[in-house]
Amino acid sequence: MNYTTYGPNTNMMNSVREEEKEARTESVSKKKKELADIANEALNMVIDEIDVSPLESELIQKKEVLDQVNEVISKILSDTKRNLSPGDKKNVANMVMDEIFGYGPITSLLDDTSVTEIMVNGTDHIYVERKGKIERTDNTFMDVKHVYHLIDKIIAPLGRRVDESSPMVDARLPDGSRVNIIIPPLAIKGPTITIRKFAADPYTIEDLITFGTLSTDIAKLLKACVKGRVNIIVSGGTGSGKTTFLNVLSGFIPNNERIVTIEDAAELQLKQEHVVTLESRPSNIEGKGRITIRDLVVNSLRMRPDRIIVGEVRSEEALDMLQAMNTGHDGSITTIHANSPRDSLSRLETMVMMSGMELPSRAIREQISSALNLIVHVARYSDGTRKVSKITEIVGMEEDTITLQDIYLFRHDGFDERGGIIGKHIPTGIVPIFLDKIKEHGDSIPVSVFKNGESLSENSVRRRF
Ligand SMILES: Nc1ncnc2c1ncn2[C@@H]1O[C@H](COP(=O)(O)OP(=O)(O)O)[C@@H](O)[C@H]1O
Ligand SMILES: [Mg+2]
Repeated sequence: MNYTTYGPNTNMMNSVREEEKEARTESVSKKKKELADIANEALNMVIDEIDVSPLESELIQKKEVLDQVNEVISKILSDTKRNLSPGDKKNVANMVMDEIFGYGPITSLLDDTSVTEIMVNGTDHIYVERKGKIERTDNTFMDVKHVYHLIDKIIAPLGRRVDESSPMVDARLPDGSRVNIIIPPLAIKGPTITIRKFAADPYTIEDLITFGTLSTDIAKLLKACVKGRVNIIVSGGTGSGKTTFLNVLSGFIPNNERIVTIEDAAELQLKQEHVVTLESRPSNIEGKGRITIRDLVVNSLRMRPDRIIVGEVRSEEALDMLQAMNTGHDGSITTIHANSPRDSLSRLETMVMMSGMELPSRAIREQISSALNLIVHVARYSDGTRKVSKITEIVGMEEDTITLQDIYLFRHDGFDERGGIIGKHIPTGIVPIFLDKIKEHGDSIPVSVFKNGESLSENSVRRRF
């Protein structure tokens, strides 16, 4: 590996007009360059000499390497009769350590929890996003080779490469952060890295109850449903909170079950111990190597799963998911893009048709109605809040039609003075038939939960969403 490249950028000051500012920038930049040069030299010396036992823990290794780095820096300084303040010496040592153990100039940004996104545009423009706002940092790479070195460090462990023939790569850091890399000739100004940092703590059921997304009663019911292996689909529009809700629902799966999650881009963050996370893969530049969600669903069936969680069904995998639900993998959960519970059924039907199996419509509907028990529909309301708008049970078939019954719904009563939604989650009075299935698994829900003492609709208020 080539470590001989890094340091500050000197072009930056060209654009600064004021002389005084220029002088100051120049001295800062000169200083930075000096530190970077020393770090570079130290790095090259240490790399040849690093002497740690691979059996030692990373912490001890780091400590030993740090001692070696400090020694080498002192030697370089005394050899060249230079002096550095203790602070600068520490900075140089950190630069070397970040290069060896971290991700070079962006290591500190990755460690900074207030940073949600990191954007590297070429060598000297590194931006971060904090609280939704983008700001430029003064971190820099020495040259393009240094940026490529970092890119290599990110994607090499994944067996990926980036070059002119495949100039775009999606990757992931070990902590789950998603990385996109695009290089010239597509990115004209130089190699460009975009890192979406992994959300440290996703919403919990308590958060969602506080936000008014659902009521405590609904939470209890859904918890019992998940434990009781009810087959659930979360439906809703784009950004309505489907994935977030799926994550929360998955949190109810008991810890002793083997869970396989399947997604296009792994977003789910399950707390359970026994989780296998699978991610689909797009085809490469030659159009080969594509692994679809469907391939993964089929494969997951051979992995002895207790639960299969599919991030979102969009296509032919719908058939395999339904079959899995019908053949002993009940308690599986997924999401679907749909405008209503009824709409999600017709979309499912269309998706099953995409699978290439020549099934008559009625057979598909029968599959759907016997596989699925419950649809949780989430929606984004006009005030920006996300709510469970309906909980609908799939009852069975009547002639050629799947019969549905709403168990819970959100009754929209009006708006407060700031345009906020006023309303309430209420039971419709119908006792779901899957209640028996839940009982088998030990959770009993009192029938009184479904008793409705209120009117279902507030007709005096025009529905504005
Ligand atoms: N119940 C909720 N209350 C408030 N914000 C939410 C809720 N659910 C999701 N969000 C936010 O909405 C955005 C979209 O959520 P996501 O679950 O990805 O939606 P979808 O999967 O439907 O596209 C995210 O920024 C997420 O943090
Ligand atoms: Mg989603």
